[in-house]
Amino acid sequence: MRLSVIGTGYVGLTAAACFAKIGHQVIGVDNDPKKISLLKEGKIPIYEPKLEDIVKEEMAKGRLAFTTEIAEGVKNSQIVFIAVGTPPKETGEPDLSAVENVARQIGENMVDYLLIVEKSTVPVKTGEWIKRTIERYNKKKIPFDVASNPEFLREGRAVDDFLSPDRIVIGCETTRAKELLLEVYKPLNSKILVTNLESAELIKHASNAFLAMKISFINAVAIVCEAVKANIKEVADGVGLDKRIGRDFLDAGIGYGGFCFPKDLDAFIKISEELGYDFRLLKVVREINNEMRERLIKKAKEVLWNLRDKKIGVLGLSFKPDTDDMRFAPSIDIISRLIAEGAKVLAYDPKAMEKAREVLPGINYCQSPYEVCQDADCLLILTEWEEFKHLDLKRVKALLKLPVIIDGRNIFDPKVMAKLGFIYRGVGWGY
Ligand code: UDX
Repeated sequence: MRLSVIGTGYVGLTAAACFAKIGHQVIGVDNDPKKISLLKEGKIPIYEPKLEDIVKEEMAKGRLAFTTEIAEGVKNSQIVFIAVGTPPKETGEPDLSAVENVARQIGENMVDYLLIVEKSTVPVKTGEWIKRTIERYNKKKIPFDVASNPEFLREGRAVDDFLSPDRIVIGCETTRAKELLLEVYKPLNSKILVTNLESAELIKHASNAFLAMKISFINAVAIVCEAVKANIKEVADGVGLDKRIGRDFLDAGIGYGGFCFPKDLDAFIKISEELGYDFRLLKVVREINNEMRERLIKKAKEVLWNLRDKKIGVLGLSFKPDTDDMRFAPSIDIISRLIAEGAKVLAYDPKAMEKAREVLPGINYCQSPYEVCQDADCLLILTEWEEFKHLDLKRVKALLKLPVIIDGRNIFDPKVMAKLGFIYRGVGWGY
């Protein structure tokens, strides 16, 4: 099939490349000429495992091309996917002006029946607005449909998530739209749920909100664990063994970050409010998430007393491992607080340092985890990169000025750490 994907961010680029991989003819569109010229050279502007290879292969096979012109995409496609950014505004609502702008241009450039699919995460009722906008600018009254096909990709695993999804959700209003989308996804042989437009939009927000709620729930339980002799990992394992609950997303720590959960939660709270419901549960989920960052600083202070002029080493900056994404990373809040308290911060991350420099300018970036440890009063672990789990802990201890590790991701066993002579504080260990 001939498809276009407008927006070449994490979701758009992964979708474009993977659609090509499963046999479709795809045009990736972006209004950023720098991104497009990079992509035309077969390079990708983000770090996402497997993606660059697929982009190169599919371009070589002639199934994937890139352009800055929406008109080119629209005129050569049966289906156009909208995957542009929906960044949060000050108020917590997503800024949907890019979606509107794209919808307008689609309306102006349609030449034949077109199916327009929203893939960006948007509040319920956005599909309605897209439809209205296209109708306004579609002067020749060319027939079209609007559908919602939310994406459940995780950064760092986006390609695998796309090619082997738990489910595909298709929200549409006509048989024609449904059949077109079923054909697009046929090669994946996956479970497909067909709903109306509003339900599909809500499935995305409700899924992310539920996962965020699981994380805040286990973090709240971790706080209680710390007050008794309990171990949050054992508690999470025990709870997670119940098939109705499941062990996934029950890892306690410094909370969730990234470009999805924080902004989607805000957006869901906001749209619920607009629709007349105060989603108090999600407000508390958000509060607990922020509290976890504060608690980490508090733990450092409990061991070190004052932070002024203390040298603090930080391992991990990205919001989670296997990505260079710094957006809404807990490390930003935590490091900014340390700096505000007068601490000197040294940091290392395997992939995110280039992006971190833009948002965290006032710190020293190191070339290795061991350089971070050199003479530090304390080591903070903020992202659970695999590399950190295999550190030579004797070497770490010898390098640190004080053998203090505050682990925001629980990557070590507290008993082993105590035996090695560390003052080790994790999240949710009451001993
Ligand atoms: C998420 C959703 O998983 C995905 O379906 C959606 O499409 C986009 O948002 P992503 O933001 O890539 O994906 O990351 P995810 O792996 O879900 O982790 C989100 C955050 O939660 C990270 O900061 C991670 O460290 C944190 N997390 C996750 C926990 O603190 N504990 C857990 O048990 C799991």
